Amino acid sequence: MEKKRVLVTGATGYVASRLIPALLDNGHLVRATSRHPEPLMRRHPQIEAVPSDMLDAASLKGALEETQVAYYLVHSMAGKDFAAKDRKAASVFATAAEAAGIKRIVYLGGLGSSEDKLSSHLTSRHEVGEILARGPVQTIEFRAAIVIGAGSVAFEMLRYLTERLPVMIAPRWLSTKIQPIAESDLVDYLLAAATAEVEGDRIVEVGGTDIVTYRDMILAYAKERGLRRGIIGVPVLTPNLSSYWIKLVTPIPTSIARPLIDGLKNEVVVTDDSAAKLFPGISPGGYRNAVRHLLKEQIGRLEVATAPDVPPWPGTFDSLFVDRQWVRSNAPPAGMGEVIASIGGDPRWYPLRWTWWVRARLDDLFGGTGLRWERPEGDLKPGSRVDWWTVRDIAPDRLLLRAEIKAPGEAWLEWRVVSLENGCELRQTAYFRPRGAAGHLYWWGLYPFHAPIFRRMAVGLARRAEEQSLQSSRG
Ligand SMILES: NC(=O)c1ccc[n+]([C@@H]2O[C@H](COP(=O)([O-])OP(=O)(O)OC[C@H]3O[C@@H](n4cnc5c(N)ncnc54)[C@H](OP(=O)(O)O)[C@@H]3O)[C@@H](O)[C@H]2O)c1
Repeated sequence: MEKKRVLVTGATGYVASRLIPALLDNGHLVRATSRHPEPLMRRHPQIEAVPSDMLDAASLKGALEETQVAYYLVHSMAGKDFAAKDRKAASVFATAAEAAGIKRIVYLGGLGSSEDKLSSHLTSRHEVGEILARGPVQTIEFRAAIVIGAGSVAFEMLRYLTERLPVMIAPRWLSTKIQPIAESDLVDYLLAAATAEVEGDRIVEVGGTDIVTYRDMILAYAKERGLRRGIIGVPVLTPNLSSYWIKLVTPIPTSIARPLIDGLKNEVVVTDDSAAKLFPGISPGGYRNAVRHLLKEQIGRLEVATAPDVPPWPGTFDSLFVDRQWVRSNAPPAGMGEVIASIGGDPRWYPLRWTWWVRARLDDLFGGTGLRWERPEGDLKPGSRVDWWTVRDIAPDRLLLRAEIKAPGEAWLEWRVVSLENGCELRQTAYFRPRGAAGHLYWWGLYPFHAPIFRRMAVGLARRAEEQSLQSSRG
C-alpha cells in the first residue's frame, strides 16, 4: 500500500483513537492534533502530536505542513452552541488545508436524509461536510450511523441502559430504523480513503449489513450478554426527561446525551451504493457479529495489553469497573516481578483475611468452589490455578489473573512492574465487568471492602519485595 503523510484531527476522540493504530500499522506517517496532546503522546509514542484548537487558526500553524491527507474528526457535541463552534472549526480547517496544499480531506459525519427534519446534531454534521467540500481541497465525506465499539458514545448510551436496567421505559424512538456499523469496518473505510483512487468531492454512506431498530439493538445486545431485558414503549417521553434519565443511569453527561437523544427520531440508513462502488474490497458485517466481536475483544484487550501506562481499554465508557493502585518501591524490578510470581497458596497474601473467609462462605452457598489456598509446584504458567484464580498471562514484569469465583460478572487482577531510576513501580489493576444490575450492585456493595483490600494488597506486595531485596543484600 502507498504510504502517506497524514494528519488526524480530533485525535483524542473515539474514532481517531481507533484509526491512528490502523494508519501506523499500514506504514503511514501520522501527525495528530488535539487541544490536549499529552495523553496522545503517551498512547501513541510513534506519532507527532501538535497542540491545536480548531477555533484558533494560528494554533494550526505547522500542523498541516507536508501533509497529503487530513482526517477531520473534530466534534464539539456538548454545549448549546455546538453547531456554531463546529461551523467555525470546519471553516478554519478548510482554509488552513487549502493554504497548506493538502490533497484530500477525509471527514466522518452522520447518516440521515436532508429531506427529513433532522436533529440539530445531524444537521450540524452535514453542515460541516458542506463547509469542508466548499473549498478547493478534495473532500471525501463518509456518513455513518452508530458505530459499534467500546467508547463510541451513542452505542455506550444504549449499552449502559441495557446493562443496568432490567426493564426499560422508552418512547417512540425505539422503532426508528438504523444501520449500525462495526468499528473495524468503519476503520477499514477510513483507512482505505487515504490511498483510494477517487476523483472529486464524494459523499459515501457506510453501514453494516443489518437495518435494525433501537429495540432490536438493545435486545440483541442483551442476548449476547446473557441478560433478560424487557422494554415498555410509551407514546411520549420528552428529550429533556430522557436526558435526565440517561444522566441518572449512565455516566454520560446530559450535555452530550441531549443532542444524541434528539437524533434518535431520525432514520439513519444507507440509501445508495456509493460505498460498494468506491470501496469494493470492503464487505461490512452485521450487528450481532459486531457486538460479539466487541465483547470478545474487551477481554482480549486485558490479555494482550502490553503498554504499561496505557489502560487496556481505550474508551472512557467501557462498562468495566476498575480499581487502580500504583505503589512505588525501592525494590529492584526483577525482585518485584519475583514477588508477584510467587503469590498464592497461603491466606497471608490477602489483606483483611476475614472478608475473604466471608466471601468463601458465600461462594460455597452459591455453588462455587469456595476459596482455596493452592498453587502449583514451581513456576506459574498460563492456565495455572492459583487460589481461586487462573493465570491468563505471565511475564517477568506482568501477571494477569482471572477470578473463578461465583460472581455476577468477570473479575480480573493484574500487576505490572515498571522500572524507575531507583527501584520500580508496582501497578495493580482490578477489573470487573458486571453482568446486569446485580453486577453493578455487587461492585458497589463490596467496594467499601475492596478499596482498602486492593490498596493494602499492592502496598503489602511492594513492602515484601523491599524486605526480600534487603535480605538478599545482607545475605
Ligand atoms: N462515534 C460514533 O458512533 C460516530 C458515528 C457516526 C459518525 N461519527 C462522527 O465521527 C466524528 C468523530 O466522532 P467521535 O465519536 O470520534 O467524536 P469524539 O470522541 O467526541 O471526539 C471529537 C474530538 O474533537 C476534538 N475537538 C473538539 N473541539 C475541538 C476544538 N475546538 N479544537 C480541536 N479539537 C476539538 C476533541 O479533541 P480534544 O478535546 O483533545 O481537542 C475530541 O476528542 C464526528 O464527526 C462524528 O459525528 C461518530
